[in-house]
Amino acid sequence: MAALLDEAHLCHLRELRARPATIDDEGLRLGDTYVMFFAESGLMAEHAAALIGGRCGADVLEVGLGLGVFAQQLAPLAPASYTAVEPHPAVVNLVAPRVRTDLPCPVTIVVEPWQALDLESESVDAIMYDTWPPDGYADADFTSFVEQVAVPALRPAGRFSFFHSGSRMSEARARVLDEHFPGWSATSVTIPSNRLPTGWTKPTGDFLVPCAQKGVR
Ligand SMILES: C[S@@+](CC[C@H](N)C(=O)[O-])C[C@H]1O[C@@H](n2cnc3c(N)ncnc32)[C@H](O)[C@@H]1O
Repeated sequence: MAALLDEAHLCHLRELRARPATIDDEGLRLGDTYVMFFAESGLMAEHAAALIGGRCGADVLEVGLGLGVFAQQLAPLAPASYTAVEPHPAVVNLVAPRVRTDLPCPVTIVVEPWQALDLESESVDAIMYDTWPPDGYADADFTSFVEQVAVPALRPAGRFSFFHSGSRMSEARARVLDEHFPGWSATSVTIPSNRLPTGWTKPTGDFLVPCAQKGVR
């Protein structure tokens, strides 16, 4: 995996970690930029339901702990374990205590970028991918993550979801899903404009909740 951390990614990580992390009534800011809002809790609940709804006892991996909003939505779904990978130590210090309190299962936080992960093959049931790649690397990182982490780490019939702004799946992402999963779907979710916080930074209140399922041998 270390090969995935080239100079552009190492530089991005250095800059990311140098940004002060703060949480206010609206969400999590890294430096001046909000990266996650409490207003996204309904959206994250849809991701959680798509990934493990109706499947008690799932081992769940999240890439990008962020504000812990997705993690909190797992609580009523009774996961067996929750692991997050998050490279910003201050984010972990701020958010991990709340997640550990709220989740009724063992919680592991790996304070690393996902590119440093060394997961056992077929060891998780569900993966949520919601990270902040360097500018210009979003699709390339997504492809690497699916090929080199998600597909090997998922158990047969395990599920993969990811943050998706906007209401149309990009061709690049659809191609990756088509290539690596026998089936996937995506449902639309909209956060009404009157519920968007004043500091809203994302391009739209429209989202997709994709869910891809690994094959069963
Ligand atoms: C949008 S936030 C995640 C929000 C989270 N899903 C939630 O529900 O609160 C993105 C997070 O990804 C983290 N991140 C950035 N680069 C990463 C990497 N290479 N591996 C894992 N996480 C990364 C950021 O520090 C940030 O906390």
